Amino acid sequence: MAGSGIVVEGLRKRYGHGEAAIDALKGVDMQVGAGEVVGLIGPSGSGKSTLLKCLGAVIEPTSGRIRLGDRTIYDGGWTIRDLRALRRDNIGFIFQAPYLIPFLDVTDNVALLPMLAGQPNGEARRRARELLEALGCAHRASAMPATLSGGEQQRVAIARALANRPPVILADEPTAPLDSERALAVIGILNAMARRFETAIIVVTHDEKIIPTFRKIYRIRDGMTIPETGEGREAVVPEL
Ligand SMILES: Nc1ncnc2c1ncn2[C@@H]1O[C@H](COP(=O)(O)OP(=O)(O)O)[C@@H](O)[C@H]1O
Ligand SMILES: [Mg+2]
Repeated sequence: MAGSGIVVEGLRKRYGHGEAAIDALKGVDMQVGAGEVVGLIGPSGSGKSTLLKCLGAVIEPTSGRIRLGDRTIYDGGWTIRDLRALRRDNIGFIFQAPYLIPFLDVTDNVALLPMLAGQPNGEARRRARELLEALGCAHRASAMPATLSGGEQQRVAIARALANRPPVILADEPTAPLDSERALAVIGILNAMARRFETAIIVVTHDEKIIPTFRKIYRIRDGMTIPETGEGREAVVPEL
């Protein structure tokens, strides 16, 4: 199922009940193919985090449909019982802060999830070092997180998100703490990784400097998405 993208149809999310109810998502349609990086852009309170949490099976939508590859995982209810395993095996998360574990070295930070998922330690570490190399961090493999620069820490967080080879990566403001050059480098890396591992990547951002790098963006406003793609957009994907 790796490499087949994510499809969202008519997704709704209502918080609360009765008069106090808030309709955070009012029918979201979205499609992100394998190997594609799309931007999700919208003002504060428009539903971006709610959408990412629904796609990551962190909260339950109210109605609609989510398809991961050829599997429908939500169809008015989760079709899968073990949501933790679903998240672990299918979704990589990247946050605004890297949240590395301070007492594990860089390799073990990346290898931890696969180890927890039952991969033999040696194999998980070997794969972690491969990813770190792909991200230009091989020389930091034995370093402790506190000794890394901000940009290096975010690269390690990206390696960690890729460690289980998830078909989907959800990134919430991944470049917010970085300067222009490092932010563009991170987007360049995400594009390269998407192509290399056939990953579908959704990047929530209102970082003006990276918005022009997306071939496809969804604007979310008032709980609904509007795609912008094709001729109108000339993506300027940074080279590594
Ligand atoms: N746990 C919650 N309970 C009630 N309302 C919420 C909750 N989380 C978010 N909301 C509301 O849903 C709407 C969308 O929020 P959110 O998804 O966080 O937007 P964004 O990430 O775009 O800023 C907002 O009106 C927000 O107040
Ligand atoms: Mg948010």
